[in-house]
Amino acid sequence: VVIQRADYRPPAWLVPDIALDFLLDLAATQVTATLDVERNAAGDGGPLRLNGDGLVAQSVSVDGEPHSAWAMDGDDLVVELPGDAHQVTIETTIDPTANTQLSGLYASGGLLCTQCEAEGFRRITFFPDRPDVLSRYTVTLTADKAAFPVLLSNGNPMDSGEEDDGTHWAIWHDPWPKPSYLFALVAGDLIATRDRFTTMSGRDVDLAIWVRAGDETRTAHAMRALIASMDWDEKVYGREYDLDLFNIVAVSDFNAGAMENKGLNIFNTRYILADPETATDADYDGVEGVVAHEYFHNWSGNRVTCRDWFQLSLKEGFTVLRDQQFSADQGSAPVKRIEDVRVLRSAQFPEDSGPLAHPIRPDSYQEISNFYTATVYNKGAEVIRMMTVLAGPERFRAGTDLYFERHDGEAATCEDFVTAIEDGAGLDLKQFRRWYEQAGTPQVDVGMTHDAASGTVTLAFKQTVPPTPGQPVKQPMVIPLRTALFDRATGRHGGEHLIVLADAAQTFTFDGFAEAPVLSINRGFSAPVAINAPQSVEDLVFLAGHDDDAFARYEAMQQLVVQHLVAAVEGRLDDASREAGRAAIGGALGAILADTALDDLMRGELVMLPGEAYLAEQINPVDPARVHAEREALKAWLGRELGDAWRGLHDRCTAVPYGLDAAARGARKLKTQALVYLAAADPVEAAQRAKAQYDAADNMTDRQGALMVLCGLDVPARDDALAHFHARFADNRLVIDKWFSLQAGSLHPRALDHVRALAQHADFTLTNPNRVRALYMAFAANPQAFHAADGAGYALIADLILALDPINGNVAARFVAPLGRWRRIEPVRAALMRAQLERIAAAPRLSRDVREQVSKSLDG
Ligand code: ARG
Ligand code: ZN
Repeated sequence: VVIQRADYRPPAWLVPDIALDFLLDLAATQVTATLDVERNAAGDGGPLRLNGDGLVAQSVSVDGEPHSAWAMDGDDLVVELPGDAHQVTIETTIDPTANTQLSGLYASGGLLCTQCEAEGFRRITFFPDRPDVLSRYTVTLTADKAAFPVLLSNGNPMDSGEEDDGTHWAIWHDPWPKPSYLFALVAGDLIATRDRFTTMSGRDVDLAIWVRAGDETRTAHAMRALIASMDWDEKVYGREYDLDLFNIVAVSDFNAGAMENKGLNIFNTRYILADPETATDADYDGVEGVVAHEYFHNWSGNRVTCRDWFQLSLKEGFTVLRDQQFSADQGSAPVKRIEDVRVLRSAQFPEDSGPLAHPIRPDSYQEISNFYTATVYNKGAEVIRMMTVLAGPERFRAGTDLYFERHDGEAATCEDFVTAIEDGAGLDLKQFRRWYEQAGTPQVDVGMTHDAASGTVTLAFKQTVPPTPGQPVKQPMVIPLRTALFDRATGRHGGEHLIVLADAAQTFTFDGFAEAPVLSINRGFSAPVAINAPQSVEDLVFLAGHDDDAFARYEAMQQLVVQHLVAAVEGRLDDASREAGRAAIGGALGAILADTALDDLMRGELVMLPGEAYLAEQINPVDPARVHAEREALKAWLGRELGDAWRGLHDRCTAVPYGLDAAARGARKLKTQALVYLAAADPVEAAQRAKAQYDAADNMTDRQGALMVLCGLDVPARDDALAHFHARFADNRLVIDKWFSLQAGSLHPRALDHVRALAQHADFTLTNPNRVRALYMAFAANPQAFHAADGAGYALIADLILALDPINGNVAARFVAPLGRWRRIEPVRAALMRAQLERIAAAPRLSRDVREQVSKSLDG
């Protein structure tokens, strides 16, 4: 069944209040739901349709009397009701332990917890499970006190008590009307870390992070991030928290990263737990970013929610932008921007050029879980970021103030958001709305002509938006490009220009240039587009060394390498041009290593080679083996050519003591990067250095970095270090996930065999999403192993999808995209990938999740 955005109809019935009564038990939880229902004046009339998913109604009563005028329509329960207002009570019993999909109410290591977004609530009780039905919830939880000493739900605790039979109970009330996807409960044996926050209007808020005993020593960073987020949202967006209590619970079994349930966020432990021994610097940033993201949803998502799931980017795109802005303010803004663009290019660009491409506001879906994508989240954030570029920060803030004021308490649309920004910021976004309608990454071609006589420079732009499934023909987009023209003689530019493209072809002229300038364009990555600009190797070397926009410096360095590697992969380099290209890259990289004005965190970005996924995007069809080989060859050459610089860098960074400050973090980042280059050049020497780094490590960043390098080498130290790491961290699941990932993602020539063996390891299980992702996502993102010439990597992923699908279709469906890229891969591998998709498609029973992704990947 295909759901269409255009088919939206307001609900026939509203549910202003709901009382939920849970008799909690791991295997048989009884749920009694009492819904105060009211006919919606704006609705089309008709009976009360309550969604269910695998539920059986044990009893249905209306206004306290048993009611028989109801029937099942598929999984839905349809109640015939006379009049306009009733109280409907329904009893169901569910088995949380059998719920391996981890959607609805499920058991996780003896705990009971929920995940309701997008459509999990209907697995708990019958309800109009759509985000435009907002209710006030009163929740009563009753459970065995010994097994479930802590009972949590949304909102504020109202009352609690104990019974003689060993049970206890708690009543929670959430005064803020919310859709069912924001409902949550948690019951179990948990320990709280507590703190407080006083809001700008003086409300005292109790903060608690609930974890399993033993993990409470690892919550400090998350708590710090929560308090910083609350403070930041007041200062930057004027948004204040609105309950007396804010609870976070960390659970080990979780499909996503975290969930913004009102007043009771539930997190994957991965995004809460961190200490220097077990978490890397990247893990620390992940915790900070996700804690902020979920907190920010309290306004962008909860107070203003979505009318329907096609509007998902309304809350996700905006909230990702907000968490990115927050993280930029906490540390290095340029480095954060570079990281965000790297994620976009490696995850979203391939989505936009493949069979699963969709606009940030999709037009149709079969399974909404498949639309929690890099496009809806990350491109969605880029689209709103462009509004900030067009409006400037003050006017953008006026727009968001108006948005929150106008739509507080409502289920809104992307259109409502754009209109509020237009009205509040004073922008005309008529044509800009195409960003919500058209999929595909726009391509901008730039030409430059210089007229020495008049001193004018003309930039000529052409934009094209490539065809995507269902959208063969596209209209021109509004593309804001921050641009600077550098004078070659002085090395400076005379101020930045904001060039806003709106037509398929346009020219812009600038005066006062005796000589043709160096073009610095899309500075700060002001638009999520691919640029093809006239930048010579000399220009790129100049910008990599001197651009005053940090992102543009990074971009120039990336372009320098991309141009060289694409030419190499396409067989366009003779020996002389290969040597010249390498020399230019080596020179620019050497200058970056020697530049004392750079901080190490930024240096760490500048020395990073473009990833294979991003490189592969530039070539169609691509031979992934050639991309890998050329990139490795360049890395090895740079490792040799700059060998002393890498050794010196590794020594210098090794001397910096552990700390969470930028300088120490920068040193750790570079330390492992130096090892990576050295390992490509001289595995024996690098193995010694890596072993020394591993043995001396007093933190996970250094330890994981050293182990990553060792994992890629065929040396005895590799197996020793892996065994040591496993033994040392055997009782820490998040660290054992790293142990799986490092091996599955390694450069080792037998990585595929290692993955096959690891799938049989006692610690491996298909029932824990983190463990599945640790092994198989790392593998699918390891081009050398996944794209094995005989197709064994594709078969391995197809086997996984088929085995995982009956257990967890949501997670299984995430593994289809790597196979779905077949159309852009060279023909031999493409046929092997397609054959695996066909094998999956032929399976007798598939989840709706996997079915949708596989059929689109075959036809798209
Ligand atoms: N709203 C959550 C977040 O981004 C994610 C929910 C994921 N749900 C899903 N069905 N994949 O913060
Ligand atoms: Zn979110």
